[in-house]
Amino acid sequence: MRLLATIGALAIVFGIGIAVFFFGGYYSVAGTAEDPAVVTWALTKVRVASINRHATDNPPASFGDNNMVQAGAKAYASNGCANCHGAPGVMWLKYSEGLHPDPPDLKKVAGDLSPSQVFWIIKNGINMTGMPSFELAGAKDDEIWSIAAFVKKLPMVSEADYKSWTASAEPKQ
Ligand code: HEC
Repeated sequence: MRLLATIGALAIVFGIGIAVFFFGGYYSVAGTAEDPAVVTWALTKVRVASINRHATDNPPASFGDNNMVQAGAKAYASNGCANCHGAPGVMWLKYSEGLHPDPPDLKKVAGDLSPSQVFWIIKNGINMTGMPSFELAGAKDDEIWSIAAFVKKLPMVSEADYKSWTASAEPKQ
């Protein structure tokens, strides 16, 4: 009995301690706060597992053909992806270096993601990071598939191609 009472008392003290830490303002929400390695590890594991489980839509038959990739490049430019992720011959905007976690260079990660995973990420965004949901921002599925096709092709897209494919792109309002 005494042991159980001690465990119960400790649990209450621990609970109060956690509440004071978070609700008393001791936890820092600063974007500059370094995450402990275990938090970064856990967040990455959770993100990858969640995307693996949720990304189940199959790409359309035309996925990856030239027209789709070029339309995707234009949609990538007009949706503002390059502001955060950069593009061939286009530097990301400086402010994106202040995001935490920071946006990856997509041509380096495109090979690790399947077409449906890229589609799912663009459509839904990644909660509590700077990665927006483009469905919430008004993009339709076929536009999102075209962007995904372009992202998968990114490692092979030259600066000249990107420039000509996006020459008439206007930022979305
Ligand atoms: C405001 C900045 C911002 C914009 C605009 C943005 N992203 Fe992101 N994106 C991020 C951030 C930050 C992450 C990293 C999230 C994380 O680490 O979990 C990310 C992650 C991603 C990933 C996952 C990378 C990986 O390693 O799993 C993909 C794919 C992606 N973005 C594609 C796009 C595309 C395509 C667009 C445009 C339609 C876009 N993003 C627009 C900030 C942005």
